Amino acid sequence: MDHRKILFVCLGNICRSPLAEGILRHQANLRGLSRLVATDSAGTGGWHQGEGPDNRSIAVGRRHGVDIAKLRARKLKPDDFNGFDMIFAMDRANLRDIVSAAPHDSSADIHLFMDFVSGEQRDVPDPYYGDDRDFQNVFDMLDAGCGKLLDFLYPASKTRGTT
Ligand code: 4NP
Repeated sequence: MDHRKILFVCLGNICRSPLAEGILRHQANLRGLSRLVATDSAGTGGWHQGEGPDNRSIAVGRRHGVDIAKLRARKLKPDDFNGFDMIFAMDRANLRDIVSAAPHDSSADIHLFMDFVSGEQRDVPDPYYGDDRDFQNVFDMLDAGCGKLLDFLYPASKTRGTT
C-alpha cells in the first residue's frame, strides 16, 4: 500500500489544522496505518508560529482521545509543495492563499478538505471567535472527513465509529 504525506492548512495553525492533523494521526493509528500515513499542519499566516494549539482545540481533542497539546504552529513554506502529496485547505480563503503561494514546480494535490471528502464546497468554519460548540462542530466535521479520507485512500481499512 502507498505511503501518503498529508498536510492540513488553515489560517493560524492553532485551531483547525492541528486538530485535523491529530485526528488523522489518531484514526490512522486505530486502523493500523501509522506507518503509511504521515501528517502535519501549517498556517497561511505566521502570527502564531511556535505556539501550541488553542486551548479549546486541545480540550475538544482530549475529550475524544486525540492529544494535540505538543504540536507547534508554523507557517506554510515553499518546500511543503513538494514534500507533501496532498495539501488540504480548511476553507476557501485558505485554498486561495495556498494556491497563490504554490511554486511553479509544486507536485502536491491541493484541495478544499470538505470538497475532497464530501463533494461539497463547504468550509470548515474558523472557530477562533466562537465558543465550545463551534470547536465541537469543527471536531465533528474533521472526524467524519478524516474517516472518509482514509476510506478513500485505504479502502481495505474501512471501519466504523473510529473516534
Ligand atoms: P485557525 O484559527 O486558522 O483555525 O488556526 C485562527 C487562529 C488565529 C487567528 C484566526 C484564525 N487569528 O486571527 O489570529
